[in-house]
Amino acid sequence: MNAESHSHEHHSHEHHSWAEPYKIKMVELLRMTTRAEREQAILEAGYNTFLLRSEDVYIDLLTDSGTSAMSDRQWAGLMMGDEAYSGSRNFYHLQDAVREFYGYKYLVPTHQGRGAEHIMSKIMIKPGDYVPGNMYFTTTRLHQELAGGAFVDVIIDEAHDPASTHPFKGNVDLRKMDALVGKVGADRIPYISLEGCVNMAGGQPFSMANLRELHAFCRRHGIPIMLDATRTIENAWFIRQREEGYADKSVRQILREICDLTDGCTMSAKKDLLVNIGGFFACNDEQLCLKAQNMVVVYEGLHTYGGMAGRDMEAMAIGIQEAVMEEHQSARIGQVHYLGRKLLDAGVPIVRPIGSHAVFLDARACLPHIDQDLYPAQALAAQLYIEAGIRSMERGNVSAGRDPATGNNRRPNLELVRLTLPRRVYTQAHMDVTAEAVVEVYKRRNEIRGLKMVYEPEYLRFFQARFEPL
Ligand SMILES: Cc1ncc(COP(=O)(O)O)c(C=O)c1O
Repeated sequence: MNAESHSHEHHSHEHHSWAEPYKIKMVELLRMTTRAEREQAILEAGYNTFLLRSEDVYIDLLTDSGTSAMSDRQWAGLMMGDEAYSGSRNFYHLQDAVREFYGYKYLVPTHQGRGAEHIMSKIMIKPGDYVPGNMYFTTTRLHQELAGGAFVDVIIDEAHDPASTHPFKGNVDLRKMDALVGKVGADRIPYISLEGCVNMAGGQPFSMANLRELHAFCRRHGIPIMLDATRTIENAWFIRQREEGYADKSVRQILREICDLTDGCTMSAKKDLLVNIGGFFACNDEQLCLKAQNMVVVYEGLHTYGGMAGRDMEAMAIGIQEAVMEEHQSARIGQVHYLGRKLLDAGVPIVRPIGSHAVFLDARACLPHIDQDLYPAQALAAQLYIEAGIRSMERGNVSAGRDPATGNNRRPNLELVRLTLPRRVYTQAHMDVTAEAVVEVYKRRNEIRGLKMVYEPEYLRFFQARFEPL
């Protein structure tokens, strides 16, 4: 039995369906466009979906970051914002929620995830250090490099194979960790960055068994484990579904068990935590917290708001409580799997098992006639927009950027288009329309041509690069 049918069986057994545990009380109207309008819009956007105007998009699957729908309680929370410069009541609410659900003692808020990554990289990495991680994330790796560190990929090999159905493709390969310690010494490793539901691998979880082994290894060598907690609640849900011994534990309990095996975290609250903006750094070590508090006043804002308004912190404190609800995660991940299964049934190559936050099209398998330096995933995302006004994003050679040592494109194994689902935003019918459009583009795949990059910004080029069709 493969992993997705396994998890499906579990959850349909318990809940019969992934129906939404909420009803809708306000809607936002969408604009429909013609194919001619979309062809013009994508041309003006330099064939980069990041450069489209949101008004020109029908179904926006660019990202799940900051795009989720808040609940009535969260909106009510906004009205309770305490906008004092210092010591806002909302900061203390957020600190209480982080202590209760994540278990970390100290909280330093930031404007979003990369703000926390910046602070952590600056206070923990020395030039010449090596920072292992279970696959890279774009902003995370860049901040490590800007602080003088070198990222080292220690995820299991299966994560780089879109067809592997390993149930925990987010796992760390302990042999790779051991080899790194042997080669550079534990002194040169300030921490390992451990991501839940690894974004670049397709939203793939790590297992608790793997984390326990990693924890034992890291304790032996004195290496802290810093969690990228962005999608850890979704990871906890997969552990409950797939890992022996966890079916009777709650997502909330599993989340605490994960955090208790780590030393701190960075967080982009724009994902799991159901808010439109926000993030934080958290840890258990007082000295580290003092350093982070001192650094945050330089780059983000005072240590009791870190770039957020008081109301944003309140919405996040409430969002944490909603995010750990079983029925929320079942519906959220259930919707992703609904879309993924439709595409699998139609024979479209996607990353398997289906992950937590998105369905990833395997552009390398769809477009074998396009060389990776002509950016097949970028071209596929543009075609999907032209077809139906659906906005996705490239996660392949453009996102991976250039190797700082050689200056060449990194040409990663995974050349993907990410269809990312905002939480609590789209309906099952939107998923049907999306699947139909993807199948339509897939049928015409032989006609799709590659792209030439005509503008390449220095940092995180995928956000702003421009392309022309060949
Ligand atoms: C795994 C992961 N880490 C870090 C970040 C960075 O967070 P932000 O976009 O809030 O700066 C993101 C999202 O962009 C992410 O998906």
